[in-house]
Amino acid sequence: MKIAFLGYGNVGAALADKLALAGHDVALCSSKEASASLSKALARNPALRAVETKAALRAADVVFLATPFQSTQPLLEGLADELNNKILVDCTNPVGPGLSHGLNSAQSGSALIASLVPSAKVVKAFTIYGFENLENNRFPGHEAKPAMFFCGSDAAAKGVVAGLIRELGWEPLDVGGLEQALHLEHMTLLWVRMVRMHKASPHMVWSVLKR
Ligand SMILES: NC(=O)c1ccc[n+]([C@@H]2O[C@H](COP(=O)([O-])OP(=O)(O)OC[C@H]3O[C@@H](n4cnc5c(N)ncnc54)[C@H](OP(=O)(O)O)[C@@H]3O)[C@@H](O)[C@H]2O)c1
Repeated sequence: MKIAFLGYGNVGAALADKLALAGHDVALCSSKEASASLSKALARNPALRAVETKAALRAADVVFLATPFQSTQPLLEGLADELNNKILVDCTNPVGPGLSHGLNSAQSGSALIASLVPSAKVVKAFTIYGFENLENNRFPGHEAKPAMFFCGSDAAAKGVVAGLIRELGWEPLDVGGLEQALHLEHMTLLWVRMVRMHKASPHMVWSVLKR
């Protein structure tokens, strides 16, 4: 699958690396400006390629958005044509002062993103834990797989993203339409507040038991 990344810092580089290792053709969207995170991401896996942003997006089957939330609006407004009909995996989290919800819980970040690129198929995924668990999701001694909750309103797009989640070693849990994104964002804040504020171990994920 052809996958393009907007943003390749803590989150983007970990996912890009693992998707390339899984055999996908992964492009890192690049502008003309120098980028420390681009050099670092390219250095960690020679299979990753820097490709001019619009060309990378046009060629992609799936686009990962892993930029700081505040930069998404200006970034996406210039890319609406290239994202037309694309699966857009929203890895961002709107985080406000004191680890609060960055949009005051009035709207999810994903809903805002979907409104900026209405013809993209937005799926929120890979957001509910810190990047530490995107780097390493193996939990020796545990039978249950680590869960990755995701949501979106396009069933086919969610099927594709669920496949990628599974390939990366997670148990995908479809929690519903994009209206569930606000609740995933609060779930993220729960994890982030436990770990970044109250010093719980970052090497902690949720798991799903069913009967
Ligand atoms: N950190 C976590 O544990 C974690 C976990 C889950 C989700 N998230 C969410 O994932 C997103 C990325 O977090 P991160 O920790 O990976 O951030 P990060 O390490 O700071 O990386 C941000 C990436 O976005 C790029 N970027 C910044 N501004 C941009 C712009 N205007 N246009 C295009 N690219 C831009 C940066 O490129 P340059 O280096 O060139 O500036 C860098 O590649 C955030 O929304 C965050 O809330 C974070």
